Amino acid sequence: MVTRRSVLGGALAATGAGLLTAGGLTPLLTANPARATAGTPAAGAPKVTLPPPFTVRMPLPAVLSPISTLGGQDTYTVTIKETAREIIPGAQTKVLTYDGHFPGPVLRARSGRKVVIRHRNQLTMPVAVHLHGGNVSPDNDGGPMDTVAPGASRIYSYPNQQPAAGLWFHDHAHHMESEHVFRGLSGTYLLSDETERSLPLPAGQYEVPIALRDARFDDTGQLVYVMDDVFGRTTILANGRPTPYFEVAARKYRFRLLNSSNMRFFQLRLSDGGRITQIGTDGGLLERPFTTDTIGLSPAERADVVIDFSRYPVGTKIVLENTLGPGTPDQVGKVLRFDVVRTAPDPSRIPDVLRTLPPMAKATVERTVVLSMDEDGRQEPRGFMDGQVWDPRRIDQTITHGTSEIWTVTNTNKLVPHNFHMHLVQFRVLERNGAPVSPAEAGLKDTVRLFPGETVRLHATFDTYRGTYVYHCHLLDHSAMGMMANLRIR
Ligand code: C2O
Ligand code: CU
Ligand code: CU
Repeated sequence: MVTRRSVLGGALAATGAGLLTAGGLTPLLTANPARATAGTPAAGAPKVTLPPPFTVRMPLPAVLSPISTLGGQDTYTVTIKETAREIIPGAQTKVLTYDGHFPGPVLRARSGRKVVIRHRNQLTMPVAVHLHGGNVSPDNDGGPMDTVAPGASRIYSYPNQQPAAGLWFHDHAHHMESEHVFRGLSGTYLLSDETERSLPLPAGQYEVPIALRDARFDDTGQLVYVMDDVFGRTTILANGRPTPYFEVAARKYRFRLLNSSNMRFFQLRLSDGGRITQIGTDGGLLERPFTTDTIGLSPAERADVVIDFSRYPVGTKIVLENTLGPGTPDQVGKVLRFDVVRTAPDPSRIPDVLRTLPPMAKATVERTVVLSMDEDGRQEPRGFMDGQVWDPRRIDQTITHGTSEIWTVTNTNKLVPHNFHMHLVQFRVLERNGAPVSPAEAGLKDTVRLFPGETVRLHATFDTYRGTYVYHCHLLDHSAMGMMANLRIR
């Protein structure tokens, strides 16, 4: 296998906009680079420019506090509203927020303990709040048509009957989800359980949620949303700030990484090629830690990783780099910098065994799903699941409650990458292109990447709720173009 460094570094610099798979050299382009046009800056607003890399501090996201912990449940109220936040120094950027927070807030929940959230929609548009990766009933799933009108409130109830996992919540109002998420409606939902809490992993201030995404700004610092703007969004934000620095102690840290981008795939590495230990994925902990030098995250995927900074002398600065485009290495190659500024005691440890995954029941049904979208350069590309644009009234797959199934999912596009997300369930990835998957994908997953031409085989068990849920490409601009379908469990 060619080394990622030489191939990606060279090719990215050469093409400026190539998006390459790790080792595969597949160019990943969008159908319509020409459609990305500049936004109109607000008249009279002062011009701003992006700060040099590593000059702003990476903030920690706010943690939401329950208004009540009575009755065996944690109760929250969240107001969905527009506000202005400093993203680029010197500018106030209008963002859509959960309770005014940008980056989106963190909600900490416990397995077996219910969370009830009243969301008040103070926007002038409908919203839907979806708990991505959550095992929730259809009426609490926040599906695309189940929206909350402007001025209205809605109570979502999450039973948290599932193992510890780094989930997230985000907007899902149909045709608006991609712009709403782009403008800020995204939050992190960290569910813990006894198994996880009994492990001696880095905790407290040494467990840090990091939401990564891209964005596009006009020259007054306002977000510019253009549908399918894969080439325009070349500013990388880590916890809501452009290419920040983050001060760490020379010890182990646990990072809860989320790719909350609409369409950007990240392939992350440390600038010195240093070791990263992956301990979990979308649906929680892996069975065993896995040592790697790179972490791939397609939109909506999560990685739970530990980095041990004790190998670096105080004073060392290590950049978390991204080796995928689109965008030049100058624009998108640097994500954030870890500055090792002090020593600290470190009682934490990464155990050899993290947990036991649930056994996979024998699958009795096989299905195939084909993802594709127009890539002929037309003005209004459509996204398809099995050749069809999403119809909220059409049931695309009918599933018998209690069964396990194998889904073979293929991306038939030549240029456009996709991924595949199912609501309600955490599945297992059995194979990628006919071969066993890497340890990084061997845990519970709710989103799986599909570079052009790739096929994955998934195992899912539908033994909890009955009802209708969506499955879709999680490049949100694509799902907004119709790359979504309905499954019904009965
Ligand atoms: Cu992140 Cu339909 O979900
Ligand atoms: Cu989801
Ligand atoms: Cu897609």
